[in-house]
Amino acid sequence: MISNLLEGKKGIIFGALNNLSIAWKVAEKAHEQGAEFVLTNVPVSIRMGTINELAEKTNSPVIPADATNVEDLENLTRKTMEHFGGKIDFILHSVAMSPNVRKKREYDNLDYNFLNKTLDISAISFHKMLQTAHKLDAINQWGSVVALSYVAAQRTLYGYNDMADAKALLESIARSFGYIYGREKKVRINTVSQSPTPTTAGSGVKGLDKLLDFSERMSPLGNADAEECADYVVTLFSDLTKKVTMQNLYHDGGFSSMGMSLRAMSQYEKSFEGSD
Ligand SMILES: NC(=O)c1ccc[n+]([C@@H]2O[C@H](COP(=O)([O-])OP(=O)(O)OC[C@H]3O[C@@H](n4cnc5c(N)ncnc54)[C@H](O)[C@@H]3O)[C@@H](O)[C@H]2O)c1
Repeated sequence: MISNLLEGKKGIIFGALNNLSIAWKVAEKAHEQGAEFVLTNVPVSIRMGTINELAEKTNSPVIPADATNVEDLENLTRKTMEHFGGKIDFILHSVAMSPNVRKKREYDNLDYNFLNKTLDISAISFHKMLQTAHKLDAINQWGSVVALSYVAAQRTLYGYNDMADAKALLESIARSFGYIYGREKKVRINTVSQSPTPTTAGSGVKGLDKLLDFSERMSPLGNADAEECADYVVTLFSDLTKKVTMQNLYHDGGFSSMGMSLRAMSQYEKSFEGSD
């Protein structure tokens, strides 16, 4: 068992709503590995969720911020630096929401105000967070920033709707800002493209149960769960991955590299039994 991989590191974790959240698991694992951090979420999620339980467990302050609001992000970043008496070493962006998905607007009937919200909350917030940290010079050299993505950025998956466009933008921001932040401050920025995971945001995706089953069967290693995702993110915050940047890193049991599996082929053949 590896220990103290993040000893002395300080950070901000966005997006822990409840104990199913990927950010929640990252916070638990980062705490186990010796990190200290500030937890943040939008005020309504702080009220509706259970983040204060996590705060108590990990001995972390909670500073509310809407990730689409630059003033909130500045306040969060400044207060975090005050709390730690200096710069931080890592940030997790684990934030997403699509009003089109919530309101069951299909991709060929999008509400464009909703689309703007989807892109703002799920992708542009990542730029806002990075630009704020960069302007305030909030991250130490060799710091690490990670955002969570999904393979629908590259491949069309039924039901993922406008979140696919948001994830494509999110991954692009990681590359574009990764260049600037790397060149100037040696800070690395990556996205982790995670398997479908049963969380509050995940359950908004149309047909999540079938998607989970399909990708579980299609992935040679099976789906990666939220805890495994947290383990991977911890390595990306650690000094073991100092030269990894501007990457979209698949954490999906091999799903993204599969085309046809033996299992899917057998199933496919069965569906044609008895027909010409
Ligand atoms: N669950 C999956 O299947 C899956 C797969 C791949 C990637 N992801 C990504 O993982 C990340 C975390 O999602 P999750 O599955 O843990 O679900 P979750 O519902 O637990 O987390 C989503 C978080 O986004 C927060 N949020 C929404 N609007 C916000 C705003 N304006 N400002 C600040 N925070 C805001 C919510 O309060 C919530 O804490 C998301 O980016 C999601 O797209 C999820």
